Amino acid sequence: MIRTIQDEILRLKKEKDVCILAHSYQAREIAEIADFVGDSYQLSVQATTAPQKTVILCGVRFMAETVKILSPEKTVYLANPIAGCPMAEQMDRDLISMWKRANPDYTVVAYINTTAELKTICDVCVTSSSAVKIVKKLDSSKIVFIPDCNLGQYVAEQVPEKEIQLLQGGCPIHAAVTAKDVERARAAHPHALLLVHPECVPAVVRQADFVGSTSAILNYAKQSDAKQFIIGTEISIAEHLQYDCPDKEFYPLSKQLICPNMKATTLMDVLHVLQGRAGEEIRMEEETRLAAKHCIDKMIRLG
Ligand code: 13P
Ligand code: SF4
Repeated sequence: MIRTIQDEILRLKKEKDVCILAHSYQAREIAEIADFVGDSYQLSVQATTAPQKTVILCGVRFMAETVKILSPEKTVYLANPIAGCPMAEQMDRDLISMWKRANPDYTVVAYINTTAELKTICDVCVTSSSAVKIVKKLDSSKIVFIPDCNLGQYVAEQVPEKEIQLLQGGCPIHAAVTAKDVERARAAHPHALLLVHPECVPAVVRQADFVGSTSAILNYAKQSDAKQFIIGTEISIAEHLQYDCPDKEFYPLSKQLICPNMKATTLMDVLHVLQGRAGEEIRMEEETRLAAKHCIDKMIRLG
């Protein structure tokens, strides 16, 4: 059944000249029909080089918005319109404008997990793979990092020479993992390396053998000589790794590491978008797009 749907998706995708982009948190069956699978940074850049005029984004809303910001000439669909990132909705333009007025000498660094509207008033964007590098390169020594205080804390520890203010936002999925989960997983798999996404709380991140973005974790585990790994990010990463590296063993750090928004997209959603029956076309005022593009361009330049 899955195979039949996949074959029809591949047929329609070719016939209609559509590019399918999937975040690495998507399920295996979606990764298999995608033209490209990657982390949030890679997806946004990949879209700009794709020859197709239409893109279907299997991931969450801010990722589809980022694709539209960078490729306005393309028709961009979010495969399932209910797939939002709760962290991206935590802070809005009014809140950050107010903060900026009270703290005019701070540079606002926004995680890419923010709305296009909020990006319009930020100075630079970062992803989990580029945050440390970009913050180091900024001229400013006073930074406010939004919205993820856990990623922000990780950056602050890697860049101690800068003063980094944090606001109370974060990913509800990663932030729910505790030091107790690390203790339990280490006891169950004493020879495994712990690989963790920096959206986890500092008490977890500080115990990791490796900290990195989704694609950095994938690359690290594939290239490592170690045979066992505890994976501290969304459960799909452990699943993809187990599939790609059958000679190694992968254990999720916590069984709670499932992002319902990332898992909202199904193969049937993708098929229905191709059939013109579902999906949401991302539309944006040109003024908003250009203002938001400014901080994404800076991320690409510095990253
Ligand atoms: P990456 O930047 O590692 O792709 O992460 C995006 C995300 O939403 C992680 O929860
Ligand atoms: Fe957003 Fe967290 Fe889901 Fe990533 S895992 S999309 S940050 S809610």
